Amino acid sequence: MSEQKPRRVTQSITVPEGEGAGDSFIRTRGRALIIALYSALRAVKLYPVGNALVVRAIHDLMSVCKELVESEQELELRVSGEFIFVNGTRLRLDLDNFASFSHVLSVFRVCGIGVLTITYEATPKDWVVLLSTVQGSSNALPEDRIHEIVEKLDAAQVTVFTLAEAGEESGEDREASKERAKRTYARSVAVTKELMTSVRLGKSPNVKRIKRIVQGIVDQILNEETSLVGLTTIRDYDEYTFTHSVNVCIFSVALGKRLGLSKLQLYDLGMAALFHDIGKSRVPLDVLNKADGLTDREWRMIADHPWLGVLSLFQLRGAQEYPYRSMVVAMEHHMKTDLTGYPKPLRPRQLSVYSKIVAVADGFDAATSRRAYQTVPYTPADVMKELRDNPRRGMDPVIVKAFINLTGIYPTGTVVVLDTFEIGIVHAVNPLPDMLARPVVRLISDAMGNLVKPGDLVDLANKRPDGTYERTIIKTENPERLGIRVSDHFI
Ligand SMILES: [Fe+2]
Ligand SMILES: [Fe+2]
Repeated sequence: MSEQKPRRVTQSITVPEGEGAGDSFIRTRGRALIIALYSALRAVKLYPVGNALVVRAIHDLMSVCKELVESEQELELRVSGEFIFVNGTRLRLDLDNFASFSHVLSVFRVCGIGVLTITYEATPKDWVVLLSTVQGSSNALPEDRIHEIVEKLDAAQVTVFTLAEAGEESGEDREASKERAKRTYARSVAVTKELMTSVRLGKSPNVKRIKRIVQGIVDQILNEETSLVGLTTIRDYDEYTFTHSVNVCIFSVALGKRLGLSKLQLYDLGMAALFHDIGKSRVPLDVLNKADGLTDREWRMIADHPWLGVLSLFQLRGAQEYPYRSMVVAMEHHMKTDLTGYPKPLRPRQLSVYSKIVAVADGFDAATSRRAYQTVPYTPADVMKELRDNPRRGMDPVIVKAFINLTGIYPTGTVVVLDTFEIGIVHAVNPLPDMLARPVVRLISDAMGNLVKPGDLVDLANKRPDGTYERTIIKTENPERLGIRVSDHFI
């Protein structure tokens, strides 16, 4: 069951779990089912019904279903949180099938479907009706959408599929989970501050406390990802070094979860992320906080923080058990995938996947924060574009893609101007992968510029009856220019 040794994650990232021999058939065929379902969804969306590609895709899908129903006598597809279950067995997520998994998950989520039961009798026509109905445009919220779909299926006399609703969190649960997230965040910042300060003073901090904090973050992200990730929009200028470490930890763990790391691996990754900049505790504060251009010498002092970090971690390790992997991350997090960053490695090396994850989280948080030498931060959307499109940033493209899936092109907290001249703050990413540019937005001012609080939540994927979008983002705006504190509107 448990897996103590974190594995290298290259081609395929798997979630280690207990697995009997009997499960392996469902796992392999289950994965084939998701891939076939994904291809069929896309084919039905892109091509007319009689098109050869649609016919092929539906045929492939039906033969996987047939195989499963024949051996299992039943076929139930269930979606819960970030996971897909086939007949109660959780499927493994590989990087190869990442796109199909997340697409199928998001279609289920948007439609409010928790369970889909498939029987022998489904005909190609039944499948086409189901797949086009779930992808049809609608303004309904997921909890209403599923009823709309069932009605449409009935009207088309498609009765072979059974759909059941996804379990919904009540409003009260959501409030409670937000509160929990706020407490975890505040405690994490306080403990990180204590840690970095004691390293600066040459004392040995209590690693056990930090481990507990990281475990708290991991557990919360595994249960309720959005609340904690949303809190990373609090970027306190004075507390930058500490909130930065906590934000990088939260982003890294959420990313690692998306990439299928196990809980133990996430603990290690979280520790490594929280400590990635610990070497900065050995750089003089006046250099670290310098507002004007750095001299060469000062720049070198800052660029020393990766290996100073390794030294600090070795000292911690002396007294207490400490994961070796964190040292690798402290050393590698500025190296870039083509090794053109710093420090310069002496010989070719393969960066650890943990370092690549932390580098993406770090690059994003650092560029979107206000700091002594960066009074005007970039907008999250610009940073995302830069991480994705500029190869000189040296980020791993698969990890950036997973990050965009996590936060959207316009991450939570981005201030956006809409074509209706309303201003809003991005509230949540749109779960449909092809709608990443159309998040759910909380309006904060009307078309005349009057502040509204609390403003309505609007889904930018909503269309008017003529098929055009009701609202579209025309640009992102710097909150400071508008005198807005994003966290006032988010929490
Ligand atoms: Fe750093
Ligand atoms: Fe950093």
